[in-house]
Amino acid sequence: MPMNIAIDGPVGAGKSSIADQVARRLNILHLDTGAMYRAVALHVLRSGVNPLDEKAVAACCEHADVRVRYVDGAQRTLLGEEDVTALIRTGEVSAATSAVSSWPAVRRRMVCMQREIAKHADMLIDGRDIGTNVLPEAPVKIYLTATPEERARRRYRQQVEKGEETPYEQVLAELNARDARDMSRATDPLRQAKDAVRIDSTDMTPEQVVEAIVRRVEEHYGRKA
Ligand code: DC
Repeated sequence: MPMNIAIDGPVGAGKSSIADQVARRLNILHLDTGAMYRAVALHVLRSGVNPLDEKAVAACCEHADVRVRYVDGAQRTLLGEEDVTALIRTGEVSAATSAVSSWPAVRRRMVCMQREIAKHADMLIDGRDIGTNVLPEAPVKIYLTATPEERARRRYRQQVEKGEETPYEQVLAELNARDARDMSRATDPLRQAKDAVRIDSTDMTPEQVVEAIVRRVEEHYGRKA
């Protein structure tokens, strides 16, 4: 059985960067499932389909050839042979992904792929429904969160560094809206799994969060990671 570690949590909790660091410490791969939904959304946008049109998205998604590869241990996300790793990080794709990822047909396909990928390697998998739905049998599950205000502050600082000028209040409002959508959608909403360890990173440094997760993994697998 491969080592599967599930990390779920809301937007801005720092999952991706924490997951990257933990995976490096443990010398395992990191599967960013959000990137897979983002690739579907990019395909939907390129096809001229409205992300809110469930039927059209479901049909379009069947032709989205999402692939995941690892180059020097880092995930590359592809549509067919095209590497779209950078292209899926725009605001337009983020907004479309929130809608596209809510449709059951899209989720069924992605969940199936994610289970298949996780079967073949020791992996840390991050997303919204990994511990509750994709890999409910994963022996180590983390629910990583922070207050909405702290998550919005982190997002805001990242955007300022990128030279974007969105006011903090708007960042907070958008984050609250995404939380509400992710937590209230009918299919696979974001929830903490009953057996997940909850880590509130509001007053923690990234190093402390990484340490807490590595310790939890070591407790379970009984080896020095
Ligand atoms: O983690 P992220 O911001 O890259 O995720 C992009 C979107 O995909 C976000 O709106 C939530 C959704 N998502 C999901 O529904 N299920 C997952 N397992 C991962 C992401």
